Amino acid sequence: MTGTMGLQPAAGVVTAFSPDETRAMEAALKAALNGPRGANPLVGAVVIDPDGRQLVTGYHRGAGTAHAEADAIAQAAAVGLDLSGCTMMVTLEPCDHVGRTGPCTEAIIAAGITDVVYAVDDPHDPAAGGAATLRAAGVRVRSGLGADEALDLNRQWFEAVEARRPFVTLHIAQTLDARIAAEDGTSQWISSPESLADNHAIRSRIDAILVGTQTVLVDNPRLTARTPSGQPATSQPVRAVMGLREVPADAAILGDDGLAVHLPTRDPHEALSMLYASGIRHVMVEGGSRILSSFLSAGLVDELIVYLAPTLLGSGTPALNGLGITSLPDAQQWEWDASDGGPVRTLGRDLRLHLRPQRRVALDPIPSDPQPEPYGTDPQPTDPQPSRTAADQAQGGY
Ligand SMILES: NC(=O)c1ccc[n+]([C@@H]2O[C@H](COP(=O)([O-])OP(=O)(O)OC[C@H]3O[C@@H](n4cnc5c(N)ncnc54)[C@H](OP(=O)(O)O)[C@@H]3O)[C@@H](O)[C@H]2O)c1
Repeated sequence: MTGTMGLQPAAGVVTAFSPDETRAMEAALKAALNGPRGANPLVGAVVIDPDGRQLVTGYHRGAGTAHAEADAIAQAAAVGLDLSGCTMMVTLEPCDHVGRTGPCTEAIIAAGITDVVYAVDDPHDPAAGGAATLRAAGVRVRSGLGADEALDLNRQWFEAVEARRPFVTLHIAQTLDARIAAEDGTSQWISSPESLADNHAIRSRIDAILVGTQTVLVDNPRLTARTPSGQPATSQPVRAVMGLREVPADAAILGDDGLAVHLPTRDPHEALSMLYASGIRHVMVEGGSRILSSFLSAGLVDELIVYLAPTLLGSGTPALNGLGITSLPDAQQWEWDASDGGPVRTLGRDLRLHLRPQRRVALDPIPSDPQPEPYGTDPQPTDPQPSRTAADQAQGGY
């Protein structure tokens, strides 16, 4: 993220923004990072008074909770702050629909806020249209400040919305040497109790959890969301099993709550389409290694959470069983995710690593000007790629 005063309006935006508005938008972008990724985007909101002072900061804590705008307004109400005549800076266009929470446009109008500046439009059909509603109610609305940063903040969420597929979180609980089960198939538990509790907390806020048929046959997991004392959490995800084999009738995953579903496919795109068609917007893929690899190979992972245990097995099931990559330049690149508690946390004796796919940067084309041949030399045959000499190889290249 850029430093103070670093935000620029989106290309083509001619509206002027004050230094106070710019600072407040930066604060809103920073606040957004406190939320978890998933079915809903990360959003932050800051309300400033007519003198540019920042009064309240809100952010969205995930699907089913108050949106950032409503959060900021509720905080102001809780301490008796009057927001009439104030400006709200928000990183996404305020929503205009009654979903699991009321429309933000209504809350903004009711609070007497007279100006709204948002960074990017909401591409989500049911939520879009907030700017028009606000304008119709006499609120001055401007947009585009911090648009690049706001798009980058939620780039995976925008991609999932556009592709009409669920947002995908991939979970790996592994040893230091990247094993998810020992040679004899035992895998419970590689992770610390604290990591397991964190995993169950995520299960209780997602729409679905997905594993492969082999994991069901080997581990017979329940895949329910449970509290640290083992009680069922209030909210339970759909439990999906992916693969062509039948799920045994006595498999624990089936439970008796009707929340289990068999996806008879090996194609991760198809699995996601099936889940999306049944209303699922956030799925956590838990394993095993062939399922994890298929989602990663297909470029269908939006968020990666790795619980890394300080344990070595030396053999056993690897976390991944091949991504079709044979050369280092083709390696998948990931970046540390600053949201939701940051890129690295300690959970008991484990490390919890949090990543997202690296932004795909469009590289400038290599200049195609032909280099003049030096006088008196014949063109040399060119190797298809730089190769090490036999002497280099013998020295190991290090
Ligand atoms: N530590 C952890 O976090 C964790 C979590 C889960 C599992 N595990 C461990 O992982 C191990 C199982 O891993 P695994 O790789 O053997 O099995 P898996 O990934 O759980 O399931 C593989 C099976 O899923 C089906 N499948 C569906 N889509 C597929 C695709 N695109 N590519 C390949 N197969 C697909 C195939 O069965 P069909 O013939 O039915 O199509 C395949 O045999 C177990 O030992 C378990 O303990 C560890």
